[in-house]
Formats: sequence, C-alpha cells, structure tokens
Amino acid sequence: MHIQQLVAYWPLLFGLSQAADQHSKFDVLDYIDPLIGTANGGHVFPGASLPYGMAKSVADGNKEIQGGYASNDGQITGFSHMHDSGTGGGASLGNFPLFAQTGCVDDDINRCYFPSTLRASDKINSSVVAKPGYFAIQLNTSVKAEMTVTNHTALYRFSFPTDGTPTKLPADGKTPYSPLILADLADLSGSRTDALISVDAHTGRISGNGTFRPSFGIGNYKSYFCADFHGAKLRDTGIFINNRASNTRKSFRTYDDGQNPILPAGAWAQFHPPANNQILVRVGLSFISTDQACHNAEKEIPNFNFASVRSDAEDAWREKLSVIKVDNTGVSDSLQRTFWSGIYRTLLSPQDYTGENPLWKSNEPYFDSYYCIWDSFRSTHPLLTLVDPHAQALMVRSLIDVYRHEGKLPDCRMSLCKGFTQGGSNADNLLADSYLKGLKDGIDWDTGYKAVVSDAEEEGTIWTVEGRGGLQSWKTLGYIPTDDWDPNGYGLFTRSISRTIEYSYNDFCIAEMARGLGKHGDAEKYLKRSGNWKNMFDPNSRSKLNLTGTQDYNQFTDSGFTGFLQPRYLNGTFGFQEPAICTDLYNFEGCYLNPGGHETYEAGSWLYTFYVPHDQATLITTLGGPDQFVRRLEYMHDTPGLFYIGDEQAYLLLFIFHYAGRPGLSAKYAHKYIPSAFNDTAAGLPGNDDSGAMGSFTALTMLGLYPMSGQDVYIIIPPFFPEVKFTDPRSGKTATIRNINFDASYNNIYIQSAKLNGKPYNKGWVTHSFFLDGGVLELTLGPKENTKFGTAKADFPPSASTNFWN
Ligand SMILES: *[C@@H]1O[C@H](CO)[C@@H](O)[C@H](O)[C@H]1NC(C)=O
Ligand SMILES: *[C@@H]1O[C@H](CO)[C@@H](O)[C@H](O)[C@H]1NC(C)=O
Ligand SMILES: *[C@@H]1O[C@H](CO)[C@@H](O)[C@H](O)[C@H]1NC(C)=O
Ligand SMILES: *[C@@H]1O[C@H](CO)[C@@H](O)[C@H](O)[C@H]1NC(C)=O
Ligand SMILES: *[C@@H]1O[C@H](CO)[C@@H](O)[C@H](O)[C@H]1NC(C)=O
Ligand SMILES: *[C@@H]1O[C@H](CO)[C@@H](O)[C@H](O)[C@H]1NC(C)=O
Ligand SMILES: *[C@@H]1O[C@H](CO)[C@@H](O)[C@H](O)[C@H]1NC(C)=O
Repeated sequence: MHIQQLVAYWPLLFGLSQAADQHSKFDVLDYIDPLIGTANGGHVFPGASLPYGMAKSVADGNKEIQGGYASNDGQITGFSHMHDSGTGGGASLGNFPLFAQTGCVDDDINRCYFPSTLRASDKINSSVVAKPGYFAIQLNTSVKAEMTVTNHTALYRFSFPTDGTPTKLPADGKTPYSPLILADLADLSGSRTDALISVDAHTGRISGNGTFRPSFGIGNYKSYFCADFHGAKLRDTGIFINNRASNTRKSFRTYDDGQNPILPAGAWAQFHPPANNQILVRVGLSFISTDQACHNAEKEIPNFNFASVRSDAEDAWREKLSVIKVDNTGVSDSLQRTFWSGIYRTLLSPQDYTGENPLWKSNEPYFDSYYCIWDSFRSTHPLLTLVDPHAQALMVRSLIDVYRHEGKLPDCRMSLCKGFTQGGSNADNLLADSYLKGLKDGIDWDTGYKAVVSDAEEEGTIWTVEGRGGLQSWKTLGYIPTDDWDPNGYGLFTRSISRTIEYSYNDFCIAEMARGLGKHGDAEKYLKRSGNWKNMFDPNSRSKLNLTGTQDYNQFTDSGFTGFLQPRYLNGTFGFQEPAICTDLYNFEGCYLNPGGHETYEAGSWLYTFYVPHDQATLITTLGGPDQFVRRLEYMHDTPGLFYIGDEQAYLLLFIFHYAGRPGLSAKYAHKYIPSAFNDTAAGLPGNDDSGAMGSFTALTMLGLYPMSGQDVYIIIPPFFPEVKFTDPRSGKTATIRNINFDASYNNIYIQSAKLNGKPYNKGWVTHSFFLDGGVLELTLGPKENTKFGTAKADFPPSASTNFWN
C-alpha cells in the first residue's frame, strides 16, 4: 500500500486532527537531504538550485570546498551563486561571493572585514537548513543568510541581529548597527586574473566581470554578475582593496599579474538599519555580459519575493521527481532519504547554459558541467533518460553541438572549458545509450555518428582533453602499448591498460550505432575492434596480496588466480603491474591522472580485468568458465581492501553475476553496499558524487535496475521497495516493477520466478521498451537463489560475441 493511501486512514484510526493529516501527507521534498555527501570527500553541493540550474547558491567554507559548503569545522567566507556538485577535481566557480556584516567597528569603514581570510566566520551548526531550492545558515556573528534561486539568479535574504552583536568577537570597540554587504572579485579556487567591479552610488547596484580558470581542464572563462539590494535605505558605497576601503572610488579593475594568492578586491554597499532587520540581495548571473546578468535578474525575480521564488523552486523539484513513484511500505526513512536524495543530485548537473554560451552562435541548446562523462555515462545519464528524457535529449544535442564547433565531443567539460579525459572517449557510450533507447527530440544522429567516428579515427590534437590518444597503435597493434610511440597528438602516456579496455567499449558502442544506422561495414569494423581488450590479457600473470600486513612485497600471499590484464610493449612482450595495485591493499593513490600514474586508472587490474561491459561471455570463457569467474568475482568483493566501490568503474562489478547465470548474487552484493557504503549521512558516500554519479547509481540499484549504459539493457534485481513505478513523462505510460513476498529486512532478495504482463519471464534483464510501452514486471522473491530465473544461457543479458547480430 502506498503511504499516500495509508495516511488517509490515520485520522480515523487515531483521531488525529486535520492539520496533522495534512502534515503527514507524503511530500517527496521531505525525503531529500542535500547535505548527504558533504563530508568524507563526497564534495556534494548542498545549496539552492533548480533542476539543471545555472544559479547554485550556498555558503562557501574554507575547508574541502569543492561543493562550496562542506559539513566540517571550516568557517564561512562568503555566499556565492554558481557551483559544481561532487567534483573530484578542484573547486569550481564560486565567483563574486557576497558577505554581510552588521556594521563596522567604531563605524569606521576600514574596520569592517574585507578579505576572505579576515571575514571568515564560524557557523552555528544547528542553524544549517538544506532543502531543494533553499539553503540557510547562521554565522556566529548572528547574521543569518538564506538563499533560493531561479535558473540564472540567486536571491539572498540576510537577517541582522538587533542587539548590536558585532560582526566578529571579540570586538575592541562598538559596532553601530549599519549593515554592510560586499561583493568580492574572487572565485573558490583563487583563479581570477583580469576583472572589473563597480558600484552605483545611487542604487547600490554592484556589477562586475572577471576571467577565471576551470577546475579540471584547460583555458579560462569569463563570468558576469549584477547584484541589487532591497529592504534598506542605502547609506554609502565604495570599493575595497586588501583590508582598506574607501567611498570615494566606485570601481576597480584587476589584471593578470601572475600572482597567487590573488589581491583581495571588491565593492561594498552600506545601509541604514533595515525596518524589519532584513536585506534582500538579488544576484543575476551571465557568461555573456553584465547587461545580460542584470536582465536575467530583472526578468526572473522582478519583485524580490523570497517566498514565491522558493516555492516555485520546490514545485519545479516536485514536478521533476513525480515521474517515479514508490510504495514505501515498511522501507526505513533512512533508505527513502538515500533514494530520493540520490535522484535529486542526479538532476543538479549538467547545467542548462542555453543562451549563455559566448563561444559560438547556435540555435541548439547548450548544457555545461559534464563533470565528467567518464563518471556520468554509467548511471547519471541513464537515470536522466528515465526521469527526464527531454532534458537528456537536449544534453545530447548540446554535446553534438560541441563537436560541431570544437571538433570533438568532450569527455569532461565545465565552465565553458575543455575538461580532462580520464580514459576513453566516453561520450561515445553516452550517445549510443540515447540512440539505442530511441531518443529523438531533434537530435541530429547523422552528425552524432560522425562525432563518435571522429573519436575512433582521428586522434585528438590534445588528447588530454579531447578524443583518444595512441590511435595509430590502436589501429595497427590492437592495444595501447605501455611504451607507446605517438607523435600524432599530445597527452598523458599512462593508463595503457584502462585506455585499451575503454577504447574497446567505445568502439563497441560505435558498432551498435552503425548497426542501427544501417552502416553494416562500419558495424563489423568496430565490433572487431571492440575485441581488442583481449590483446592485453596475459594468461600467465598472477597477483600477490598484502593479507598479512607486511612491508615486503615478496612476502605477499599469492591470490591463487591466474590471468589478468597486463602492460604490453610495442614489441608484443608483456610487462607486469601487480593487479592489486591502487586498492587499499597496495598503493591506493598510485593510479591518479598525473605523470606518475600507472597503467590502470584509479583502480588496479583486478577490477579492470572484469571491465568488458559488452562481452562478458568471452570474458567468462577467458577467465576459466562461469564457476571460476564467479569465484574470482566473489573473492574480489569479499577480500577486505581488494575492491573499492567509491569510483564509478566499480559499479559494473556488482551486476555481472547475471552473465554467469547467478542473478541472485547481483542482488546480494547490491545489498552489501547499500546502505553500508551509500547512505543518508553527511559522510554517506564512498567517493566523490561526480555530478550525481553516486546518487544515480544508488537510486537505480534501489529501483532494481543496473543500466548497461551504451547498450539497450537494464539488468534487473528486486527493487528495495515493494513496488516502483515509472511514468513516461511524454507518453504517460507506466512501467511497474512489483515484488511479491517483499520483506523490508531484505532476506527475500532472490528472484524465484517472474512474470512480465502476466506471462512467465525468465530473463535477468529488460530493454528500454519496457519503460516506453509500459507494463508490469512481477518478481516473486525468496530467501535462497533459485535455479530457474536467469540461469539458462538464453536468459543471460546479451554479449557481443553471442548476440550482436540478433
Ligand atoms: C560543526 O559540525 C562539524 C561537522 O559537520 C564539526 O566538524 C564541527 O566541530 C561542529 N562545530 C561545532 C562548534 O560543534
Ligand atoms: C562564537 O564565537 C565566540 C567567540 O569567538 C566563541 O566563544 C563561541 O564559542 C562561538 N560559538 C559558536 C557556536 O561557534
Ligand atoms: C528554468 O529553465 C527551464 C529550462 O531548462 C525551464 O523549463 C523552466 O521553466 C525554468 N524555470 C523557471 C522558474 O523559470
Ligand atoms: C569587464 O568590463 C570592462 C569594462 O567594460 C572591459 O574592459 C573588460 O574587458 C571586461 N572584462 C571581461 C572579462 O569581460
Ligand atoms: C600492507 O598492509 C599494511 C596494513 O595492513 C600496511 O601497513 C603496509 O604498508 C602494506 N604493505 C605495503 C607494501 O603496502
Ligand atoms: C620488449 O620491450 C620491453 C620494453 O622495452 C623490453 O623490456 C623487453 O625485453 C622487449 N622484449 C623483447 C623480446 O625484445
Ligand atoms: C555510510 O556510508 C559511509 C561511506 O561509504 C560509510 O563510511 C558509513 O559506514 C556508512 N554508515 C552506515 C551507518 O552504514
């Protein structure tokens, strides 16, 4: 029974009042906690945003500030209007922060606190409120800041104490109540070069521009803002440089002098005490011009109505999330929060910058903050495809437009700049996923196909940020040699194993698109190349594990498993890289994206040896058959330290049991990691959220689905709810997955039998047509693995070697 139906009876049963009844109505926003993932390296942005909104406002801290605010003991340095969520790179954006003070000591403008190091203030933990579309915090100065947003505008409401509490304690002097609000020419990473700020002496409007650097990429970008004040009489205005201020100058320009830290500078407006002790600040944003920033603000928030802006934002979230309905009977609040917050975070980015792209003129949509596709193709975009296929189609169009104007699809992109490629050209997978799932919405698939073929055929000039490197070896040798000779492009010569295995999958995705577009020859060609991963499989390699805690590698214990992906040289000889490297057992940090990195990216070859999403059938044979495959996979999950779930390439390894006829084990391991590694605490993510990658993975798993992104395949396990429903936002058709014998303590997690629209169904997977056409999938559960459901070869999810042409 749905909680929505259940609560209707509560007043009758318990004699509750009408008010209590309304209060207990299910509101999805009650189950969203934006603070999940704001500690422990999750780097989640917990502030106010609309779905895909460009304006993302929050209080910025001074410790682990990738998402602006973090749940730690850092101080608050300002309130800024644009952010990225969950980044593994540096801190993005955070341009032009505001800061509010009750007044200046001795009413001396020079005794207000201007540079961020001086104004940094403690926060009062219990005052933090984070909700979709809203963020509030009180500083230890007693100034309270609340914020909400529209698409390109942030609206702040500062409340000041009336008791003369000074801006900072202890204050050696009196602080007369005369609020001052400054805007700083800075960003979170201190990357500003040339910039301009000015303040209007009559209106107090502060506007400006600046050039900044992206947080995980190359180049720079220009940003513009326009701040207007409301609620108090303007007293004075001016600028500041370092910790000095003046009311005689109304504008200031900075230049690129190569210095870091950058010179603190900005503008301020001071006010007479506001009638209700509140001042509103509306900050319009743009990447085009200051005029456009002001225009965005005036259009989106004409009358400074905080409550109505906030309630519009809440409605926007409720509407987006209404596509999915769950029966929550018996499911803990904690799991429900984990679930809905995961979907919420998935819809934060990519961000809709349509109309704000200064780089080229186009009628196509422009989305930004694909941060990064290596992370997001796996679950973020597949979940968007279910929840908001129109937005996903616009994102695909925007990616194709990047190809049109910059020559390559990005693997990562933020702040209008090219971001770093981590392995293959994974936009190929993203495009194939949407193509195979039938997304149209004006997508020019012919150009989309040209874009992916360009990745496969023409080396990226700077393949650190676009396309692939090593293509000549890829085409002639069929692998990326560890000692590759590649003068055809510029990039980082590491990760030869993980690049080879990712290029294999990229080519498979291209083969599928070619097949769909009737390009038979291309399909054959890329299908063949998709088998290249085997060229780096060294059947004789072994792995020794640090199971005894010794410092001496030679004393490590042989794992008993033989055959891993291994480095391979130009001359065809194999090298050796301990397969357990870059796990907790051995040099965890050795495989990052830097010149010292090894031949696998952010994991060892224990993990990458399983990473063949398109041809598990061949992989299973290669690893010695299904039993040996399952034994190795379980060993990996069950040996403490050998498997890390906190990086996106790991997700696949929970679900490939399906390809060995053991779908029950996929369910078992899903429950092993949710909620133990993904939960509703601030520290409840095992790694960076990476634009909702962790959130979408968690939500999809709880929905009982693992999308084999880049293929029209969803692996199924029992949802974590009695029932889940997806209503296609366009056709209105509903797909229902229902558990029979559901128990909320999750003993019955094994599918005994299934029915699709009333007919027996033994396949461990469904295609996207289930969601497009609607229907009912009924899973009967039990406490033990069963021998019928998904156990026959014909019921396994498809593999390239067995199913490509049928
Ligand atoms: C506030 O909470 C953070 C964790 O979110 C903690 O590190 C810090 O010590 C707390 N501060 C106070 C004053 O309790
Ligand atoms: C606020 O600041 C004062 C003075 O620095 C300090 O004594 C007090 O503990 C702080 N309170 C909080 C909640 O941080
Ligand atoms: C924000 O932009 C989206 C398009 O991305 C649009 O559908 C929506 O109506 C806008 N929201 C508001 C509150 O203007
Ligand atoms: C900022 O504005 C000034 C004055 O209009 C202009 O000279 C400068 O080029 C602008 N900078 C950027 C980054 O747009
Ligand atoms: C083996 O593991 C122990 C902790 O269990 C660690 O202290 C030691 O450094 C590890 N050895 C190597 C060579 O990494
Ligand atoms: C192949 O090249 C590697 C790396 O340069 C070298 O160590 C190895 O000895 C070579 N093998 C043969 C058979 O020449
Ligand atoms: C929540 O997840 C975090 C991060 O993975 C983990 O460290 C923690 O133990 C989990 N907490 C619970 C209660 O499962």
